[in-house]
Parts: sequence; C-alpha cells; structure tokens
Amino acid sequence: MNPSTAPASLHGWRLFGLLALLVLVATALALAWQPQLVEALRSAIRVTARTSFALFLLAFLASSLAILVPSPTSRALLRERRFFGLAFAFSHLIHGVLILTYAQLFPEVFWNGRSAAANIPGSVGYLFILLLALTSFPWAMKALGGRGWKALHSTGTWVLALIFCFSFYKRIPLSPGYVLAFGLMFSAIVLKLVAKLAQRVRRNAQPARTPLTTAR
Ligand code: HEM
Repeated sequence: MNPSTAPASLHGWRLFGLLALLVLVATALALAWQPQLVEALRSAIRVTARTSFALFLLAFLASSLAILVPSPTSRALLRERRFFGLAFAFSHLIHGVLILTYAQLFPEVFWNGRSAAANIPGSVGYLFILLLALTSFPWAMKALGGRGWKALHSTGTWVLALIFCFSFYKRIPLSPGYVLAFGLMFSAIVLKLVAKLAQRVRRNAQPARTPLTTAR
C-alpha cells in the first residue's frame, strides 16, 4: 500500500498508542501465565526485553532499509521511526518497572549471583533511552542543533545495540535461542554499516546531489 494512502489511524501517536497497548497486553499475559509471582515477574521482564528488542530493531534499521531497499514500506518505516523509538522507550519503561518490583519483592533472588557492577551496562542503557526519548521532540531537536542531535542519537543507538548484543551473548549458555537473538542483532549492525558504506559510495559518485536519507 502506498504510504500516502495508508489508513490515517496507523501512524504517529496512534501507532505509538497501538504499540504501547500491545506491550501492555504481552506483559499482562506473561504475568497471568505463571502461577508463582517470582516466575511471573521474571517472565514479564523477558517478554518486555523482547518487545523492546523488536521495536528497537525497527527504529535502528529504518534508515538503512530506506537506503538499501527503497520502497513505500521502508519509507513509511523511516517516517514512523520516531514513534517506533518512543514505543521502544515505553516497552523498556515497563521492563524497568518490572525489574524494580522484582528487586523489591524478591531481593535475595534478584541479587543472587548479581553484583552492583553487573547493573552498570543496563543503567547506562537506561540513561541513553531517557536522553533519546526526551530529545525526540521538535523543541529538543531545535535546542540541540542538527549536529548535536545527530551525535547524541547516533551514539545512543549504537550503545543500545551493543547492550542488546551483550545481553543476548551472555545468555547463550542458557539456551540456543539466544544464538538466534544475538545473530539478529549482529546482522542488523552489519546491515547498518553496509548502508552507511553504500550511502558514502553514492555521495562520492554524485557529489552535487543531496541524499534523500541520512543513515544515523
Ligand atoms: C540496570 C538495568 C537493568 C537490569 C537490572 C536488567 C535486568 C534484567 C533481568 C532481571 C532480566 C531477566 C533475567 C531472567 O531471565 O530472569 C533481563 C533480561 C533482559 N534484559 Fe534487562 N535489565 C536492565 C536493563 C536492560 C537494558 C538497558 C537492555 C537493552 C537495551 C536490557 C535487555 C535485556 C535483554 C535482551 C534480556 C533477555 C531477554 C530474554 O530472555 O530474551 N536490559 N534484564
């Protein structure tokens, strides 16, 4: 479907609302599925990490897909990138609320084998999620300026991509499924680097032309 004729209900804040609702439904199902509260919380934490991952991948790859496979769908994805990013932040807000509840209600289980240092990468991730979400609004873009905004969002998305890689990699001994998740994140990183290279090659070939899309 041509994005210009796409239903008005499925973009912008309505899209965000729908994605946020799906995250809440998935969380509620995960909580309801397990009879034991401790297992229910752990399961919901994993589910929200996965909804976050799916939403992050869409936002992370939007510009690369628009460069490598230009189509109405990839352009629509790029246009809605901000709302996929904000839905990712919402999903991770729920991840955080569940983690705090888990740590509060079951401190012995939460801290079992976990040091305060083990929370550093995740905390840095949360700092970037907060910064990226707060600066996703026009007033913040204006205040930061084009270069500052791009530098922050580029750094933040790469840091989060590495945290996802690390989170999946360290869980590989627990289940082979994590190899797939790690492979997905790793492939997305490779795809993004290829898109950046393709954009550079195109720019050098046509220095006078302004590109439609900038990979960040
Ligand atoms: C201090 C901050 C954080 C803490 C304390 C934390 C804690 C946790 C816990 C307790 C789990 C579930 C472990 C279990 O299986 O029982 C989990 C899963 C996970 N978290 Fe977080 N997290 C934090 C931040 C983050 C961030 C910022 C990201 C990514 C950007 C992230 C990505 C993940 C992933 C990918 C999983 C695995 C999901 C799966 O099993 O498929 N976490 N986290």
